[in-house]
Amino acid sequence: MAVTPSANRNILVTSALPYANGNIHLGHLVEYIQTDIWVRFQRMRGHRCYYMCADDTHGTPIMISANKQGIRPEELITHMHAQHLRDFTAFRISFDDYYSTNSEENRELAEFIYLQAKEKDAIYEKEIQQYFCEKDNLFLPDRMIKGKCPSCHATEQYGDSCEACSAIYEPTRLGEPYCAICGTKPKLRSSVHHYFKLSAFTEELKKWTSAGHIRPEVQNKLQEWFTQGIKDWDISRDAPYFGFRIPGTKDKYFYVWLDAPIGYIATTKHWCRTHGHDFDQIWHGNTFEIHHFIGKDILYFHTLFWPAMLLVSGFSTPTRVNVHGFLTINGEKMSKSRGTFINASDYLAHLDPEFLRYYYAAKLGPGLDDLDLNLDDFTVRINSDVLGKVINIGSRLGKIVNEKLSHELSQPDAAGSLMIEEIRSALPVIAEYYETLEYNKAMREIMLLADKVNKYINDAAPWERVLTDTARATAVCTAGLQGLVILAGMLKPVLPRIVEGVENFLEIPPLTWENLAQETPLKHIKPYEHLASRIPPGKAHQLIAGTSV
Ligand code: 2FM
Ligand code: ZN
Repeated sequence: MAVTPSANRNILVTSALPYANGNIHLGHLVEYIQTDIWVRFQRMRGHRCYYMCADDTHGTPIMISANKQGIRPEELITHMHAQHLRDFTAFRISFDDYYSTNSEENRELAEFIYLQAKEKDAIYEKEIQQYFCEKDNLFLPDRMIKGKCPSCHATEQYGDSCEACSAIYEPTRLGEPYCAICGTKPKLRSSVHHYFKLSAFTEELKKWTSAGHIRPEVQNKLQEWFTQGIKDWDISRDAPYFGFRIPGTKDKYFYVWLDAPIGYIATTKHWCRTHGHDFDQIWHGNTFEIHHFIGKDILYFHTLFWPAMLLVSGFSTPTRVNVHGFLTINGEKMSKSRGTFINASDYLAHLDPEFLRYYYAAKLGPGLDDLDLNLDDFTVRINSDVLGKVINIGSRLGKIVNEKLSHELSQPDAAGSLMIEEIRSALPVIAEYYETLEYNKAMREIMLLADKVNKYINDAAPWERVLTDTARATAVCTAGLQGLVILAGMLKPVLPRIVEGVENFLEIPPLTWENLAQETPLKHIKPYEHLASRIPPGKAHQLIAGTSV
C-alpha cells in the first residue's frame, strides 16, 4: 500500500453517503463501523484524523418517495437526516461532520467541477432515446421500468439487468415494458444528455489504479473494465428531478451520482468553515491523505468516475479506496420477507451497539469477502470474549479490591510484571493490524492476550490470597488490572463506551497508544460499575422479525 505511517499524519476519511430515502440497517453499519474503528485508531495514535459523511439526498427515488408521502423532498431529507444521525450516534460513529449533499457548498462545487470539465473539453451533448411515462410525466430511470428480459424472457425484470439470468442490457431492449410506478406502458422520447468523456481519461486512470491506492483484487476487477473499454458517462437527467440544475441549461439536472461524491468535498468545506480550518490544505496539495471506505457495489463510481472528476478539476485524488464486502445474516442475503432486513433502530431496541461493533471487528478483514452475522455465533463470541475474557477481569478484581482491599492498589508482583510486559509487547503488531484493516486478526490476538491475563489471575488466585496476605493480593490485583488497562487500550477503537467505563472505574486518563507504551500508575479505583450484560440464550434471535423467545 502507498501509505507509510509517519509520526504525524493528516488524514481525511469518508464513508459512502447513505441515501436519504431509507433507514440505516445492519448492512450499512459494516461500513460505518469499519471506518469508525480506523478513525478512532488513528486519533488514538495522535494523528489528525477528520471523518466526513453526509446524506445522499438527490435523485428520482427520493423525489417519488416524497411525492407519495405528500411532502416536499426537502422535508423528507431533513427528517431522514435526523433519523440517520440518531442511529449513527447510538452506534458511536464519530463523524466530525455529518452534512447533506443538498447544500450550497455542494451546488457550488458540483458546478465548479462540471465547468472545469467543460473548459477542458471533457463534456459533450448527445441526443438519446429514453422511456417516458406520460401518466407520471417522468423520464424513467432504469430501475423504474420493468418488463421481460431480452435474454431469458423472465417477466418483471428491471430495465438494466435480469435477476433470473444476470443479463445486463439497455432498457430499450426489454420486452413489454411498463412503468414500475403506475404500470402503464412508457413511450420512447428523445432528449439531449450531457456526457462526461471518461474514455479520454483511460490512460490516467490506468496509472492511478496501479499506483497502490487499491488492493490487488480490486485492481483485477478494474482490469476487466479497462479490457472492455471505458465508456463515457451520462451525467444529466431531465426535469422533473430533485437535484442541482446544470449551469447554462433550463431543465437539465446533474445525475445524483455526479454530486454524491462531491459531497465528500462539500462536507469538508462546511466543516472547515464552521471550525476555522483551511479547506485548500485538505483537498489540494499533499499534506492530507484522503481515505474512502466503500462497499464493492460502488467500486466503478469511486475508482473511475471519481478520480477522473478530481483530476479534471485539480482536486487531490484519493490516497486509498478501501472496499468491503456485503453483510449476510445466518448465511443468507438480508431479506425483508425472511425478516432479516434489520434496521439499526431495531437492533438498538434489543442489544448493545458495542456488541455489534465487536462482532463486525472480529470478522472483518481488509478484502472484499462478505461478512456473515450468525446470531448464535454472535451470542457465543460476545459472551465469551467481551464479557468472559475482558470485562470479567474488571468485575472480578474490582470486587476484591473494593470489598476487601479498601479500593487501594500498589505495584505488580514479579510474575505480574512479566505478564504485563508480554501483553504490552504486542502493541506494535495490534497497531499494524488496525492500520491494514485486519481487525479480525487484531481481535484474535487481543483475546489470546486476554487469556494470558486471565491465566495469571487464576494461577495467583487473589480471592484466596486476600484471606492470608493482603499485600500480595493487592499486588496480584494491581497486575491483573494493569493487564486490563492494556487490553482496554487495544480495544478502545472497537468498544469506545465500555473502555470509557474502564478508564472511569480505574481513574486513569483517556487511553492513547502513546500512554499505553508506558505503565499507567494505578492507585485507587472507584466502585465497579456494571459495564455490559451477557446476552441471554436466544435473545439475539429477537432481531429477526416475528421470532420471539
Ligand atoms: O450506494 C449508495 O448508497 C450511495 N448513496 C453512495 C454514495 S457514496 C458517495 F459517492 F457519495
Ligand atoms: Zn408511470
